[in-house]
Amino acid sequence: MKKIFWLALLGALLAIQLIRPDMTNPPVNQAQDFRQVMQTPAGVQSILEAACYDCHSNETQYPWYSQVAPVSWWVADHINEGREALNFSTFGALNAEDRAEALEESAEKVQEGEMPLDSYTWMHPEAKLSAAQRDVLIKWLNANSGEGAEKGGEEADTKAAAEHEEED
Ligand code: HEC
Repeated sequence: MKKIFWLALLGALLAIQLIRPDMTNPPVNQAQDFRQVMQTPAGVQSILEAACYDCHSNETQYPWYSQVAPVSWWVADHINEGREALNFSTFGALNAEDRAEALEESAEKVQEGEMPLDSYTWMHPEAKLSAAQRDVLIKWLNANSGEGAEKGGEEADTKAAAEHEEED
């Protein structure tokens, strides 16, 4: 009885390998990528690439286990949903408002510890952000989303005021 169970399980695991989600990356146009559009400082960009690009870009790197069903189905779902929510590879296609919103939300998600997803950092310890890395990332995101001008210190306020004067 026991043997039949294990054979059946093995058979099922082999059979589900036939259902393969599409794991090819869409083509990348570097001119539209976040790093090009935002001229991200290297320190910030390297954090995003290590912690976010696998799910939020068209430059996903698939480890071997991500090719094995049922993990592959789960990984593909995360990547599809992640790209839909925010895709750094096509950032240049967003208008100014959507860009600002994406930066603001990213800062929030990192601040709240929701991104990168825990299930991801278990398998990718290099994506786990240190307090210092989070700080660098959040500061830069906020400074570039316009949040800095609303909430931020004197410098941002003076700059906003100066810009305002120019308009008048
Ligand atoms: C393992 C895949 C994965 C990683 C890694 C990851 N995300 Fe996500 N992210 C998702 C998924 C899936 C969603 C959509 C569902 C949700 O909101 O939980 C999402 C949603 C978001 C959203 C919300 C967008 C919206 O419209 O609400 C933001 C912002 C975001 N991620 C930023 C980041 C940032 C910044 C990083 C890196 C620090 C990151 N994510 C790392 C999978 C990932």
